Amino acid sequence: ANERTLSIIKPDAVTKNVIGEIVARIEKTGLQVVASKMLHLSREQAEGFYAEHKERPFFADLVKFMTSGPVVVQVLEGENAIARNRELMGATNPKEAAAGTLRADYAESIDANAVHGSDSSASAEREVAYFFSADEICPRT
Ligand code: CMP
Repeated sequence: ANERTLSIIKPDAVTKNVIGEIVARIEKTGLQVVASKMLHLSREQAEGFYAEHKERPFFADLVKFMTSGPVVVQVLEGENAIARNRELMGATNPKEAAAGTLRADYAESIDANAVHGSDSSASAEREVAYFFSADEICPRT
């Protein structure tokens, strides 16, 4: 089915100056960027976005990292977009990420892992709405 998913280019990748390289890799898979903006997340924004991880031991470090610098948030659209973007990203831990994936190529650690992508249709729906209003999403006509 045609799907939308939320992608975040995290502070480590923005600092490395590879926003364009990552977006090019996303576009090469055939997914379309239908919304895009740069943000420096506040603590409240990061905590709200990652609320499902609130009780996890890494939560404080995750919020600290995600607020450490600007991020690029994007909505990607296409057939099976959620799974295709996750396949492109590779495993959460770059040590386990398959060769040729974004995390294998750009991530340093499980915390500084270059990109985020929604993991299910329910989270995609929530995550897209968390950052974008309907009028900020611009599908091809
Ligand atoms: P992300 O896909 O953005 O979702 C939550 C993030 O928490 C994850 O990527 C990792 O960067 C970070 N994280 C840190 N430690 C862990 C862990 N042990 N398991 C899962 N995610 C972790």
